[in-house]
Amino acid sequence: MTIHIGDTTPNFDIETTKGTINFHDWIGDSWCFFFSHPADFTPVCTTEMGRTAQLASEFAARNTKSIGLSTDTVEEHNKWILDVNDTQNTNVEFPIVADPEHKIAQLYDMIHPSESNTAAVRTVFIIDPNKKIRLMMTYPMSVGRNFDEILRVIDSMQLSDKHTIATPADWRPGGEVIIPPTITNDVAQDMFPQGWNEVRSYLRFTKVD
Ligand code: BEZ
Repeated sequence: MTIHIGDTTPNFDIETTKGTINFHDWIGDSWCFFFSHPADFTPVCTTEMGRTAQLASEFAARNTKSIGLSTDTVEEHNKWILDVNDTQNTNVEFPIVADPEHKIAQLYDMIHPSESNTAAVRTVFIIDPNKKIRLMMTYPMSVGRNFDEILRVIDSMQLSDKHTIATPADWRPGGEVIIPPTITNDVAQDMFPQGWNEVRSYLRFTKVD
C-alpha cells in the first residue's frame, strides 16, 4: 500500500507492550509520533528508544503520543525495554508494537528489501488528531534519528495549523515564518495585522506567537 501525506492513517488492531490496541482509538484526540526500527537489542535502536522516553514531557507538551514498532514479539520487547531503561537511564512508558509477522510493517511500507526482507527501516509518521498523515521520514538502518528535528516538525505543523503559515529552512520556534503565496496581501492584512517584510511578492516574512 502506498501512503501519502494527507491520507487517513491506516487503522489496525495489534498487540503492544501496553496490551492490544486499536490504532485510531489509541491516538484519540492527540497527535502521534509512530516510528519503526529494525530490531530489539540493537545499539542504534536502543538509543532511539531511550531518547523517546527521555523526551516524554516534550511530546506531552505537544499533545503527542509516541508509539514504536519492530518486527519482534512483546516478550522480546519487554526484555529489551529493561536494557533500554538501564543503559539510557530512563523509563520507557510508551507502547511498542509487536509485529513478528510484518503485518503492520507491510501495511506502512516499512520493509525496504534492499535493506532487509525481515527488519523494518527507520520510518517516522507524524499523525494529527484527525488521523491524517502529516509527515513521513525514512532513514536507513545505520542512521539514528534526530529528535530535535522530530520535535521541530511537530512545532512547525501545529503553528501552521494555528496561523496558516509556513516555516522557512532551518526554522526554529520563535523564528520568522512565511505567509503562503495563496494568501493575497489584502487577506494577509486581516490575518497578520502585525505586518510583514516583503522580500519578493512571493516571499513575505512575519512573526506569530
Ligand atoms: C541498530 O539499531 O543498531 C542497527 C540495526 C540494524 C542495522 C544496523 C544497526
